[in-house]
Amino acid sequence: MNYKKLGNTSLDVSTICLGTMTWGEQNTQDEGFEQMSYALDHGVNFWDTAELYAIPPKKNTYGKTEEVIGNWFEKTKKRSEVILATKIAGPGLSWIRGGGNQYDEKNLNEAVNASLKRLKSDYIDLYQLHWPERKSNFFGKLGYQHKDDSDWNRFENILNSLDKIIKSGKIRYLGLSNETAWGLSKFLEISKLKNLPKIMSVQNPYSLLNRTYEVGLAEISIREESGLLAYSPLAFGYLTGKYRNGELPKNSRMKLFGSQFDRYKTKNGQLAIEKYYEIANKHRLDFAQMSLKFCEVQPFITSVIIGATTMDQLKTNIESVNIKISDEVIKEINEVQKIYPNPCP
Ligand SMILES: NC(=O)c1ccc[n+]([C@@H]2O[C@H](COP(=O)([O-])OP(=O)(O)OC[C@H]3O[C@@H](n4cnc5c(N)ncnc54)[C@H](OP(=O)(O)O)[C@@H]3O)[C@@H](O)[C@H]2O)c1
Repeated sequence: MNYKKLGNTSLDVSTICLGTMTWGEQNTQDEGFEQMSYALDHGVNFWDTAELYAIPPKKNTYGKTEEVIGNWFEKTKKRSEVILATKIAGPGLSWIRGGGNQYDEKNLNEAVNASLKRLKSDYIDLYQLHWPERKSNFFGKLGYQHKDDSDWNRFENILNSLDKIIKSGKIRYLGLSNETAWGLSKFLEISKLKNLPKIMSVQNPYSLLNRTYEVGLAEISIREESGLLAYSPLAFGYLTGKYRNGELPKNSRMKLFGSQFDRYKTKNGQLAIEKYYEIANKHRLDFAQMSLKFCEVQPFITSVIIGATTMDQLKTNIESVNIKISDEVIKEINEVQKIYPNPCP
């Protein structure tokens, strides 16, 4: 396994992070347990979850994934071996504290306490804001239309509230998710000006089908030591080749939940996948591993958050750290990106 510092902390996190959002829906608790044990045994010491999970978000599965992780900590007594990231949900879901704005002191405290209880833990290593409260472009939204909305908690207030929770020992470091370059820069600026905690990471989508992070955020990540935690690096499984020719394998995410998730179903996405698939074949690389390794080698990335529903997938994905992709492969990938730039933003 490879390791990088999380932001400017002293924590060495594995460059493969264990994603967990299928546990409690597509995967049982026992399957989650098996994944956690295998991942930790293979050096994956960094795990990502959220109060919102399991996915797809539903009232009756809210908090389930954190519960699975908490039960594993209780059983194995291995909490201290893991660097654990979780998230408070943003607004919009009626079953999560009424669905309004969430990043005020009261809701932040309530969410942290409830996560800790489910996680059977007394601290969280990285606490992330799952998506912005303000109207902005995230979850694949394009065509920015400005709304002069004032109805969101201001960055300084959020940092002040989180500073108190850090001082109480319940959380150690802060991260953002689904954030824009403006949001990240403002948070960083205010934390410097007001001596408030720094944002150590940004959890955004990044894959061969969506390299939009490279445009503005990548530079901030490196200059400010606030790296990307890349989510959906296999574009929901599309970058394994499993959905080529329109096939929807049994029990796959697109077969089960395809009607809810259309982010990776674009025409140019499918054309780009064919090209990337050819590159992997030509260089005798496993397509999933090539797709993951391309993310892992990016200098602005701290860790690549993998997801798996079977042990075979998990093993393949973790093993991606041990493959090499040559300059020639990267050059060929970049040629495809020029023809089909970010087909699934
Ligand atoms: N912050 C956010 O808003 C956000 C959003 C999304 C994800 N995340 C985080 O990132 C993690 C990973 O996201 P993701 O699950 O979307 O990642 P992904 O890598 O794009 O997709 C993972 C899915 O692809 C399929 N798959 C994975 N490896 C495979 C392989 N080797 N061969 C064939 N199929 C394979 C599996 O689904 P099937 O078996 O069902 O086909 C698996 O669940 C999540 O668990 C979560 O922690 C965060």
